[in-house]
Amino acid sequence: DYPRWPSLARESILNVPMDLRSIKLSIDGKVIDYSEEIDSVVITGMGGSGVVGDIINDLCWFWDCRVPIIVSKNMRLPKRLSRPLVIAISYSGNTAETIMSANEALSRGYPVIGVTTGGKLSTVLTNKGAPVVLIPKASAPRYGLPALLYPTLIILERFGVASVINELESGISGIEDALKRVDDAINLAKQLVNSVPVVWVTESRRGVGIRFKNDLNENAKYYSVVSVVPEGAHNDIAAVTTKQGGLKHVAIMGPNDYEGMYEEVLIDVLSSFGAKPIIVKLEGKTPLETEMYGVTYLGMVTLALAELLGVEPVSTEPIDRLKNLLS
Ligand code: PA5
Repeated sequence: DYPRWPSLARESILNVPMDLRSIKLSIDGKVIDYSEEIDSVVITGMGGSGVVGDIINDLCWFWDCRVPIIVSKNMRLPKRLSRPLVIAISYSGNTAETIMSANEALSRGYPVIGVTTGGKLSTVLTNKGAPVVLIPKASAPRYGLPALLYPTLIILERFGVASVINELESGISGIEDALKRVDDAINLAKQLVNSVPVVWVTESRRGVGIRFKNDLNENAKYYSVVSVVPEGAHNDIAAVTTKQGGLKHVAIMGPNDYEGMYEEVLIDVLSSFGAKPIIVKLEGKTPLETEMYGVTYLGMVTLALAELLGVEPVSTEPIDRLKNLLS
């Protein structure tokens, strides 16, 4: 699916309904008016769908996002919300946690928008009159990432949360640049064989780190840990002095933005205690370009690793079993 990512991004945004802000519903006597001002955005979803929230959270470290973004990967929503917009993202539309959250949001009188290929989420929301963005299919949820992310960005634009339109094409350039780096991705994958990757990432690239870990888990069936700095530099970093077998440090470093100096210092310290971190330098002129470059390139690394290990990347049987039991 990776070569399809640019077209998946472009196609999927065409499916965002034009009239989102004029929708008005009445559920259990409560009127839900989509034209009203919101004071937060909750992005709820799991795994390859939920990571959209993490990515948008990263982008809001750079963009002037008007309201806080709350990432909720759970079957319920936080209690303290006042006037949120809830975006429920589930590629399949059949993930129990996301459906429960969407239902809870509607019963609490919040505007909800679904982003999905269909499934029960689409049925539940449509039956109640709530809008659904139907997105094109991929081989598995995580391989449809741009089709989940790009419509969500358009929703943020429509609700005045962030100005995204001028950056969308740069995100696609990030994908295209990463797609040219197949040989580098294979080389990095080779360095990860027989290890537990410890992924170091700064707070504003947390989404890239989480996505890399999730892709290692799901594509290569490989354990991995993410350490987010600066916080990780106040706890995880102490463990670098122990010669615990099998760990391999991977440091994801942004372009020369405000966290660059922190990253340099971190590498110095890790190296001085004998760790030899593999450095992955993210490229991109805009926050979205950098983010898309990172998730695409590191995703390719995990597919290359799956191939080296002789692992089938698409299926995730334990996840499927759990989802079936919950549905
Ligand atoms: O990428 C995957 O296959 C998983 O992480 C799924 O995204 C996760 O299980 C949630 O499913 P869905 O995206 O269909 O809601």
